[in-house]
Amino acid sequence: MIKALRGMKDILPPLNKKFEYFLTNASRIASNYGFEFIETPVLEETSLFKRSVGESSDIVGKEMYEFVDKGGNSVCLRPEGTAGVVRSFIQNKYDRILGVKRFFYYGPMFRYERPQKGRLRQFHQFGVECFGENNPLEDVNIILMLKEILDFFGINYSLKINSLGCDKCLPPFRQRLVKFLTDIEDGLCEDCKRRIVTNPIRVFDCKNKNCQKLLLNAPRLGSSLCEECEESFNFVKNFLNDLGIEYEVDSSLVRGLDYYTKTAFEFVSNDLGAQNAVAGGGRYDKLVEFLDGKNVPGIGFAIGIERIINLINLPQAKREGYYFGALDEKEISLLYKLAVKKRKNEKVEISYTPKNLKAHLKIADKKNVKYCVIIGENELKNSKVWIKNLDTKEEALVDMEKL
Ligand code: HAM
Repeated sequence: MIKALRGMKDILPPLNKKFEYFLTNASRIASNYGFEFIETPVLEETSLFKRSVGESSDIVGKEMYEFVDKGGNSVCLRPEGTAGVVRSFIQNKYDRILGVKRFFYYGPMFRYERPQKGRLRQFHQFGVECFGENNPLEDVNIILMLKEILDFFGINYSLKINSLGCDKCLPPFRQRLVKFLTDIEDGLCEDCKRRIVTNPIRVFDCKNKNCQKLLLNAPRLGSSLCEECEESFNFVKNFLNDLGIEYEVDSSLVRGLDYYTKTAFEFVSNDLGAQNAVAGGGRYDKLVEFLDGKNVPGIGFAIGIERIINLINLPQAKREGYYFGALDEKEISLLYKLAVKKRKNEKVEISYTPKNLKAHLKIADKKNVKYCVIIGENELKNSKVWIKNLDTKEEALVDMEKL
C-alpha cells in the first residue's frame, strides 16, 4: 500500500471542517483590515530563499526540499510564504508605486524537519504581509489583527515580543556578542559554535540547557538598540499597553528567519505541547531592497494552520439544505431532475439508491440537512413530494411544481 510521506498528512473529517472554518474567518478578518488575497507559486528559485530566509538559518541550511528540475534549474518547495510574496511584489513593480499595499495568503509550506506532534514536513500557513508602512503603528495593527483572529477562535495564548534592531545597531551588537561567545566557545554545543561564524544572534534560540546557562550573562540586543529602534520599540510597547494587550518582552526571541528587523513577535499556546508557537512574524524593512527592489519596508505574520485547528471548537452547525431520496427505482430519474432544479439555490444531497423511509430519514439526519424530500409510488402518481422539516418535525405533501 502506498502511504503519504513521513510528516505529510491528509486533512480529513472532522479537521477538514475546522480548516475551512478557520480560512473563511481569518480571511474575513484580514479583509476587514484592508488585506487582499494573493497567491504565489509553491515552487520558486532556490536562491530566493537563500537570499531572504538566509543561508545560515536552519530552514535553508537543513530543511529545504530542493532539487534540480528538468531544465537544470535549482528550485525549491517554499518553506514559508513571505519570500514569494516579496518576490512577486518586486517583480510586479508594486515597489515603484507609492502607498501601502497589504496582502494575505494561505497554502502549503515544506520543511524537511524531524516530524513530531505539531511539526510536519508539509504544513499550511495563513499569512499576511504589509508593504510601504514605516509607522510603528502598523506593528501594533498587525499584532492586533493577529490577536483578533486568535480571539475569534477562542485560543489561549501569550504574546512575546522583541526588537531585532536595524543595520545601524545590529552590526556593533553582533561584534560584542561574537567576542562574548568566543570567550565561552568551549562550553557551547556544536550548533552554537557554528553560529558564532554564521549567525551569532541565533544562539539565543538554542534549546541546549548548557548553552542557555552560559548565555545568561550574554549581551542582549534590547539594551544595544539605536535611538530610532528604541523609540519605535517603546512606541509599540506603549501602544500595546494603551490597548490593554498583554505581552512579555523576550530578549531571546530571535525568530528562525534572517530577514527580520525591529519588531518581532510570537504567539505561543500552552495547549499545544512542545511545538507551542501558533503564529509568528515581524518587520523586515530591508528585505525588498535586499531582493533588488526599492527601499520599501515590510511587516507580516504567519499562523500555522494545523496547529491552530487543533485548538478550535466548531460552533454547533445549524441544519442546512435538502436531502432527496426515492422509495423505488422508477422514481429516481424524476427525483434527480427535481433535485438539480433545487440545487441552483440550495445545498442538496441526492441519494441514487432507493431505500425505505426510515433509512432515508436516518441519513438525512446524519447529513444535518434541514429538509428531507421523498418520492414514492403514490407521490409519483399525484405529482407530489413528501417533505419533512427535520428541525420542527413538520411533514407535508407538496406539489412538485411548488417545491
Ligand atoms: P515561522 O515562525 O517560521 O514564520 O512560521 C509561522 C508559523 O508556522 C509557526 O508559528 C508555526 O505555527 C507554523 N509552523 C512552522 N513550521 C511548522 C512545521 N514544521 N509544522 C507545522 N507548523 C509549522 C514564517 O514562516 C514567516 N514567513 C512569518 C512571517 C510573515 N513573518 C513576516 N511575515
